[in-house]
Amino acid sequence: MSTTESRVPDEVAAILARCDLDQGRLDRSVFRDRAVYELELERVFARCWLFLGHESQLPRPGSFLTTWMGEDQVLVVRRRDGGIGAYLNSCPHRGNRVCTTEAGTARGFVCNYHGWSFGLDGALTGMHEAQAYARTPDFDRARLGLTPVAQLDTYKGLVFATFDAAAPPLAEYLGAFTYYLDVILDNDPDGTEFVGGSIRSVLSCNWKIAAENFAGDALHAGWTHASGAQATLGRAVPDLSAEGTESYQANVNGHCWEFNLDAVGNAATLHEPRVLEYLRANRERFRDRLGDVRSRMVGSISSVNVFPNFSFLPGQNTFRTWVPKGPDRTELHTWVLVNRAAPQEVKDAWRKGAMMTFSPSGVFEMDDGENWELSTRSAAGFVTRQQPLHYALGLGSRVPRDELPPGELPGNVFRGQVNDANQRAMYRRWSQLLTAESWADVPPDPDGEQP
Ligand code: FES
Ligand SMILES: [Fe+2]
Repeated sequence: MSTTESRVPDEVAAILARCDLDQGRLDRSVFRDRAVYELELERVFARCWLFLGHESQLPRPGSFLTTWMGEDQVLVVRRRDGGIGAYLNSCPHRGNRVCTTEAGTARGFVCNYHGWSFGLDGALTGMHEAQAYARTPDFDRARLGLTPVAQLDTYKGLVFATFDAAAPPLAEYLGAFTYYLDVILDNDPDGTEFVGGSIRSVLSCNWKIAAENFAGDALHAGWTHASGAQATLGRAVPDLSAEGTESYQANVNGHCWEFNLDAVGNAATLHEPRVLEYLRANRERFRDRLGDVRSRMVGSISSVNVFPNFSFLPGQNTFRTWVPKGPDRTELHTWVLVNRAAPQEVKDAWRKGAMMTFSPSGVFEMDDGENWELSTRSAAGFVTRQQPLHYALGLGSRVPRDELPPGELPGNVFRGQVNDANQRAMYRRWSQLLTAESWADVPPDPDGEQP
């Protein structure tokens, strides 16, 4: 499958030239420009590994879900052979959507328009008025199945796919970031699952504003969410940049994790004692499995973005994708992740707490939406968008490897979670992908920031 169609339009090149990430400057048109957006669909979303779902959502042959890779809708299916397939959810006949529901179980899929039917492996299995096709010369059923993704793989329960056959394998794409992912995905030998159901909502913002917020914006937490924290914690969010606070930003290949080592700070905001009891009771087990440093990250004040648009919050355990729907529109899909072996009351408490905080009516989710919408909207102003944005917080804060705990915290690590280092890394990766003709031109790790 070819995923590169064009060169970089002059307009996009000019916008990228006005971004200077080494100085922490970003041009506002990155959130507004249609040509930037179209190039993102081609060179970011049709090229990167994207999150499709959790294996627990596809428990048996015929289990399926529909989701988005960029603006391409895909049908993700547990095949009869036990493997997972993902195909464009568009009929090869006239393009109609083949599956119109979000999730379920099926023996196959029948297009609503002219009745072409497809197996769980995506093959064309039958047609309405089949005799007419039988008389049609060269009608080759075998070539008219649903179009599969180029590569699909899983990492500890999470299912990812890419449309680009030339993309590096998932293990390489994630790289050393798996050290951090294991904090949440592998703190228990029985692994994780999504609790049933998901929530979708729409935001009038650019997808990157949401993604960068999770990549590294600890700065907004105590301010934007001050009243939410009062409501759930009964006190303000602690000063995250206070002297002596042990906190970092880390990134690998544009994937970002900002965190401190307080063990339960995020989880505490759920206002669910069962969740805190569970985390505290299992602290020793986490330490045996992950080591001391990571055991203190399981529920800590932290946020994560797996490049480009898959985010989650350790502790609150809300998992989400920011699905692009145009430069100024984002569809948010959210799920709640729990340890499979956790007691049911703990799973229920986690789900309830996540809904109280990070759902469309959750106290924290509501705080963020308006800020992101107005940040996006301001770039519509001709004069306003000539003014660069400030991403310079924490320039020069990179931690030399020999000052980090031995064998811990791989990747590019920066002192202090109140920092823009991760956002700069995310936009470096983004910019490198936009200008690269193919994966062969994409450097292995975008974070060239000097100490
Ligand atoms: S569009 Fe699907 S059968 Fe015609
Ligand atoms: Fe927020």
